[in-house]
Amino acid sequence: MNLHESQRMQTDVWLTPPWIVNELGPFDLDPCAPLQRPWDTARKHYTINDNGLLSPWEGRVWLNPPYNKEAVKWLRLMKRHKNGTALIFARTETKWFFETVWGTAYGVLFLKGRLNFYTCKGEEAKHSAGAPSVLVAYSKYDAERLRDSSIEGAFLGLI
Ligand SMILES: C[S@@+](CC[C@H](N)C(=O)[O-])C[C@H]1O[C@@H](n2cnc3c(N)ncnc32)[C@H](O)[C@@H]1O
Repeated sequence: MNLHESQRMQTDVWLTPPWIVNELGPFDLDPCAPLQRPWDTARKHYTINDNGLLSPWEGRVWLNPPYNKEAVKWLRLMKRHKNGTALIFARTETKWFFETVWGTAYGVLFLKGRLNFYTCKGEEAKHSAGAPSVLVAYSKYDAERLRDSSIEGAFLGLI
């Protein structure tokens, strides 16, 4: 990948608001981190150059997957890994939500309002996201952290 290509791709990237990771961390791995990140989201990061879909996942994972048709692949890996928390759009009716959240996750926290994501320069988006978001816990510990967090929303224990 050349520099121009990587810069163009990074303009489409929307990062997790840092207060969410600060509240729920620490995490051991972010398997899909930006090439230039304004802050750490985990102890270890994979970027597109590492391909986090193919690299080994270890420890407690923070997952805010790329918003494209590959998103379900990341959620399938999380379902198999069973250790960590994901931030995704609350598309509760979809086939992929049924496959990778309902009947799989330990708990979910539906966020109040809509999030303002951040750019790779660390700037908050001027507009909120086009859909509501949900945090998904893939272990008992992650569900407890969601339940006990100060993040505004509605927690639902699933297992
Ligand atoms: C929605 S952003 C989330 C970034 C970060 N995880 C966070 O929570 O702020 C998704 C990121 O995945 C990266 N990405 C896309 N495909 C990837 C791949 N195959 N391996 C690793 N990272 C990838 C993109 O560059 C982008 O930075």
